[in-house]
Amino acid sequence: MSELPWVEKYRPKSLREIVGQPKAISLITRWAQSWERGRPAKAAALFYGPAGTGKSAAAAALASDFGWDLIEMNASDQRNLAEVKRVAGTAASTGTLFGGTAAKRLIVLDEADSIYGTADRGGYSAIKEIIAETHNPLVLIANDKDAIPWEIKAACLMVEFGRIGEEVILKELARILHLEKIDFEELALKVIAETARGDLRSAITDLQTLTTGKKRLTIKDVVLYRRDQEIDIESFLAKLLEATSADEARKLLWSLDLPPEDALAWISENIPLVVDGVESRAKVYEAISRADIFLGRAKRGQAYGMWSYAGDLMSAGVSLSRGEELKPVKAKLPSHIWRYSRTRADRAVRDSLTRKIAAHCHTSSRTARRDILPYLRIIFKNDRKTAEAIVTALELTEPELGFLR
Ligand SMILES: Nc1ncnc2c1ncn2[C@@H]1O[C@H](COP(=O)(O)OP(=O)(O)OP(=O)(O)O)[C@@H](O)[C@H]1O
Ligand SMILES: [Mg+2]
Repeated sequence: MSELPWVEKYRPKSLREIVGQPKAISLITRWAQSWERGRPAKAAALFYGPAGTGKSAAAAALASDFGWDLIEMNASDQRNLAEVKRVAGTAASTGTLFGGTAAKRLIVLDEADSIYGTADRGGYSAIKEIIAETHNPLVLIANDKDAIPWEIKAACLMVEFGRIGEEVILKELARILHLEKIDFEELALKVIAETARGDLRSAITDLQTLTTGKKRLTIKDVVLYRRDQEIDIESFLAKLLEATSADEARKLLWSLDLPPEDALAWISENIPLVVDGVESRAKVYEAISRADIFLGRAKRGQAYGMWSYAGDLMSAGVSLSRGEELKPVKAKLPSHIWRYSRTRADRAVRDSLTRKIAAHCHTSSRTARRDILPYLRIIFKNDRKTAEAIVTALELTEPELGFLR
């Protein structure tokens, strides 16, 4: 059987092991200490911030540090909330059979930003009541604090988990490799840390993927791996607008795993909307239409160089004529590739795979996609026997199998 995922193996067991969040940890500690003296003014705390920054880990570590029982629930399931209400409302100090006091329970409601309802109705009204009545500390966890009604936020201690700094991530990755007895080139770790954009979970997952079966990690490994990873279309468009050289724009197009016609459709549907200056927009249109012409010639089997002209025009040509004035616009799917766009097909496969994993592991789709799927990819890359067992257990289809490979 394969080794444990490193994000599990190295999950912080105590608040002291949470890195890069000193402010959050000190807030949480003081709040927990006040609970030890009785119900504080704010019975609940809201941990919020981007993915992979230690929110769930901190909640579990908190319970462990204070010797509290941990009750974790997914807040988006309304049926859970009735149960939470019952558990929270029960006094923890009713005593055990032998007269001692029972441990407090830390109730953790994860994904509190995907609850249905407002503060007056639905899931949030249940949460409001739970906060008002609880005899036990309650932690809500969310990525997006704006999705939570202000009345709930007003009743919570607000604890922000920011993106983790590159230096901190770098140090954590080096610590893990040291424990795993794997040697590394400094630059390789730097690139992983930088790519993670403050998400320590994804940095650790990347690190494990890259080093499985290796004794030394080099920058070359990392570069090859990054090229394998498809960059999604939205970040492609955003980066294309930021590109400052023709070479950079060309490389972006090259790293995008899309047929050139599809890429051009995305570009022409989206970039002109973003470009504000009249003159720049004219230039952008010009580059797009010339790219289209060359692409047409290339497809009719004319000179070989047509592909690369088309590619240059749609990447560098568009990017370098965009001008300075840009409007923020959300990427829009080009109408005519809606049905057979490859990224879209991929997403459908990923979703069906995610559903199977979620059902099999009795977990939410989000957990399946975020925590289990990347790990399966590691297994499929390195452990044929386990991979075969998984294929059978999940009754994987050909496309699903392809996705994992
Ligand atoms: N601040 C941190 N200190 C130490 N390890 C961390 C930290 N943040 C993340 N990790 C690592 O990443 C894993 C996942 O972290 P965690 O589950 O706490 O993320 P999260 O903030 O709850 O993310 P999400 O919003 O996606 O649920 C942990 O098991 C640990 O290995
Ligand atoms: Mg979490």
